Amino acid sequence: MRRKIVAGNWKMNGSSDLAKQLVGYVRAELDTLDNGVEVVIIPPALYVRDVLDQSGGSVGVGVQNVSQWASGAYTGETAADMVKDLGCGYALVGHSERRQYFGESDEVVAAKVERVLASGVAPVVCVGETLEQREAGEAESVVAAQVQQGLCRVAADQWSSIVIAYEPVWAIGTGKTATAEDAQNMHSAIRKVLADIGAPAESISLLYGGSVKADNAAALFAEPDIDGGLIGGASLIAEDFVSICRSMPAGTKG
Ligand code: 13P
Repeated sequence: MRRKIVAGNWKMNGSSDLAKQLVGYVRAELDTLDNGVEVVIIPPALYVRDVLDQSGGSVGVGVQNVSQWASGAYTGETAADMVKDLGCGYALVGHSERRQYFGESDEVVAAKVERVLASGVAPVVCVGETLEQREAGEAESVVAAQVQQGLCRVAADQWSSIVIAYEPVWAIGTGKTATAEDAQNMHSAIRKVLADIGAPAESISLLYGGSVKADNAAALFAEPDIDGGLIGGASLIAEDFVSICRSMPAGTKG
């Protein structure tokens, strides 16, 4: 049985006020959610404490990035141990914006995944192809390589903590969602790659991200290999985010 997760990645947006208002609203709405979905909010690091204060334990909290190093003279970085210390359960690793603007390679992703796991936090490892790569017919091979290389340091007893988010770069913030069928096909391909590298593929949660909105979430979440979503823009609008959380079908996945 796989975890069903809807996570809101605020990116570099929001405020202390939004953290208080939105999380309070989401938590209140969650009382009437009975579809078994785990809701996670991933605000900018400076607002993690505000979100945690409002989460009441029923909303999970994560960070958008961590350092690949354990501690020391790395000005501006956040250690995975600090993320754990604060009470966060998740850390995004290798988001395409980190890969694009901060030069995060698969090697760095692998080091961060190892560090996050060592701290007892669950990494949400982001993978996805660019439009150019998709048009060249390389989408599956690009994503397969990101999965293989990003997860190459995961030990056999650590797979239960791994979450993967497939986010095609061309669908992020563009309003162009992958069709439910395209997303399902890629998720199924990712599961095959996981099986090939010896991971328990059927028990790993795979999230889809890229212009998920209240009106397309249900079709995506209905697919057998899509276990949830990583939501950007729509996670900043409380009603839309709750509506996306409600779109998860009841029952088990996997
Ligand atoms: P949007 O939902 O805004 O397309 O962002 C997706 C994303 O990058 C989430 O991590």
